Amino acid sequence: MGFLGQLFKSKAKKSLNLPLDLNQVKIDMHSHLIPGIDDGSPSMEHSLAMLMKFENLGFKKVITTPHVKPGSYPNTSEIILDGYKQLKAAAIEAGITLEIEVAAEYFFDETLIDKIKAKDILSFGDQYVLVEFAFNHPPIFENLLFDTLIENGYKPVLAHFERYSYYFGSMEKAHEWQRKGVAIQMNLSSLCGAYGQEVKRQAEAMLDQFAFDFVGTDCHRIEHLIQLEENLTLPYLSRLNDFMLKNSSL
Ligand SMILES: [Fe+2]
Repeated sequence: MGFLGQLFKSKAKKSLNLPLDLNQVKIDMHSHLIPGIDDGSPSMEHSLAMLMKFENLGFKKVITTPHVKPGSYPNTSEIILDGYKQLKAAAIEAGITLEIEVAAEYFFDETLIDKIKAKDILSFGDQYVLVEFAFNHPPIFENLLFDTLIENGYKPVLAHFERYSYYFGSMEKAHEWQRKGVAIQMNLSSLCGAYGQEVKRQAEAMLDQFAFDFVGTDCHRIEHLIQLEENLTLPYLSRLNDFMLKNSSL
């Protein structure tokens, strides 16, 4: 959220205590729905149940983002696109009308820079690229990553900023990156407490301090969506109704 003045839809239209309207969020841009290629959906059956739940919750489109992490999930663009083709075919056969698109969630390591330079990247929307950092230690050379993306015509999106414990209690980095054109994504389930109280507090602070641009489910299992459904009236989720999220532009 770059400029405070552009954040709110309308000051007069504060929707306090109304459940978060997922029809308005409209598009989810972070999920793991392709079965068997990362730690997301375990089967096509489970993927279809998740897609139906997305539809049910009011989403119009999901952009699914399998992990690309050499060593753990060595997915290539071909593997992801092939899995996407199968997911789409199964969804059509099951009568699911939700729009489904595909990109990836790229783990930041030394191999990613070469991938970007080779343009071997699955982006979404207007050239957005979802990247994640390690959870156990802060990144080094992250500005090289962001600059390389930007120089190659991409728009970096940093996944779930609130989950990196080494940034707990500060929005400084998020704001610094937003100023250079990096979009910040927050997981909706962080606001539900899915990753514990510290992550929840950090997510709430992101909202208080306008340190985010996109929200995503980062849904790996249907349980994540059920938990979201059960928490839509939480005050911080309700407050999202008043924000101009970038999701609907996708
Ligand atoms: Fe993810």
